[in-house]
Amino acid sequence: MFRSLLTSRLRSAFAAAQIDVPVDFDVAVTLAADTRFGDYQSNAAMMLARQLKTNPRALAQSVADKLDVADICEKVGIDGPGFLNFTVGKEALAGKLAAIRADEHLDVMRVEQPQTIVIDFSAPNIAKPMHVGHIRSTIIGDCLARVAAFAGHKVITDNHIGDWGTQFGMILHGWKTMLDHEALMRDPIHELVRCYKLVNAAAKNDDAVMNTCREELVRLQQGDVENLGIWRKCVELSLSQLRGIYSRLDIRFDHFLGESFYNDRLAPLVDELLAAGVARESDGAICIFFEDIPELADKPCIIRKSDGGFLYATTDLATIDHRIREWQADQVWYVVGAPQSLHFQQIFAASRKRGQRARMSHIAFGSILGPDGKMFKTRSGESVGLLEVLDEAIARARAVVAEREGFSDGEKDAIADVIGIGAVKYAELSQHRMTDYKFSWDKMLSLQGNTAPYLINAFVRTRSIFRKLDGQAVLTDDITITDPAERALAMKLAQLSETVHDVLVDFRPNLLANYLYELANAYHAFYEACPVLRSEGSVRNTRLVLCDATSRVLQTGLGLLGIKTTERM
Ligand code: ARG
Repeated sequence: MFRSLLTSRLRSAFAAAQIDVPVDFDVAVTLAADTRFGDYQSNAAMMLARQLKTNPRALAQSVADKLDVADICEKVGIDGPGFLNFTVGKEALAGKLAAIRADEHLDVMRVEQPQTIVIDFSAPNIAKPMHVGHIRSTIIGDCLARVAAFAGHKVITDNHIGDWGTQFGMILHGWKTMLDHEALMRDPIHELVRCYKLVNAAAKNDDAVMNTCREELVRLQQGDVENLGIWRKCVELSLSQLRGIYSRLDIRFDHFLGESFYNDRLAPLVDELLAAGVARESDGAICIFFEDIPELADKPCIIRKSDGGFLYATTDLATIDHRIREWQADQVWYVVGAPQSLHFQQIFAASRKRGQRARMSHIAFGSILGPDGKMFKTRSGESVGLLEVLDEAIARARAVVAEREGFSDGEKDAIADVIGIGAVKYAELSQHRMTDYKFSWDKMLSLQGNTAPYLINAFVRTRSIFRKLDGQAVLTDDITITDPAERALAMKLAQLSETVHDVLVDFRPNLLANYLYELANAYHAFYEACPVLRSEGSVRNTRLVLCDATSRVLQTGLGLLGIKTTERM
């Protein structure tokens, strides 16, 4: 990719100019902030001159004199106080386009050192309402898994379902006293949540109910056959419904190792940590202390309560062991809402204290707000679940598609599915993950603006050209870029590789979404300015290659966001 090529050439130029670059100084080339001056820029000479207290323009000039980029750039400028600006040459761009044309992987660079990355996302809790945080986690986690795999990593996805915990005391009581078996078969998640909510409310006002729930829980934990049977049924039914939802979303997990999977490992783990001196007793509880970490100095991680019970953190430590020992994880990514930040700081610190080297990242996100800026609710006024959101998105997309002519009902259903699900995912992924975003049906389903329907429609337009050619297009490497709109589009296409890698730096799918939006805009501008089918020879071939590459980059890029495309809409 141009950026990394230019970066390494620039580094060599600093060396050739005999400028001492401090080890921690980053000689970086970035995308140009303003494309009037070039395609890429670097402020390295300027920043270094500041450190060395010399004249920045003079330093930039001496670097530029040694810069060997004739095969990439047609111009290198020194602008302002010492910016280096690089303009990619037409031949290099044509070469890149030819490489994209010939490569199924769209000439996207693969990482030099692939890592085994375990991605922990979605992880709803059985028999507790799924909240918007789970929706965000599901969509962001899936996207990151796809991008990391595309970049060349080995990715293992693991859904750490909350299938064990105090909620089961209430569920067991609810199951025995108020369960509607028919409703359970129809929509298990909904029926279990209904019971949970009712019992929860009753227990608040009535100590007797609370006590019964507690007793049910203790019996479950002690292995009571009846309660274990009910628990297993709850998990099975919910999981099978969840699998259905994931399959509609086209999201797959390599593993569904819920919290209960680790139950037998908790006691030995705590013993091991005690023996190793990592944990110690404090007021009857077993804790891991982090005296050496200022932010955590007064926030020990409790791993066994004084009553002998284990905690969420204990399970997570056992989970880390499994992922490192069984899967050889080099990295573990947790896509979980920001409120759990302290929890992850603690278990990451505990893992380091044990000498584990895997790199752990908590990938947090903000919340989703309704159009009114308050907590997001569905039409029925309930707090939202994934299922409700999907159904409503598809229904709304179906209503829009209903007016179209030339499609059978089956085709309309299929298109509504692609658009509805794509719209929900895109609304999520096109935002910076930390911002609270406003959920707006009209905006996300609009054909205009930075939306899934807009991008899918851009893809449809690229395809319609090839449909008109009816398989008659034979593309070659005879590429000559002349028109500015062609150049702008080619440059965008060339930047897919950089974008894919940038997404992983700080876990930001929105960089890819925005890239695709800009690509679609560049395509529309090109389409207005440059006739394709009415052109001839090399010009026609170049334009068809541009259309084909745009089509594939849009399809692959949307695919990395977990969004499907359709040939017509
Ligand atoms: N089930 C948890 C929740 O809903 C999320 C689990 C995240 N993953 C983990 N390994 N702790 O809050």
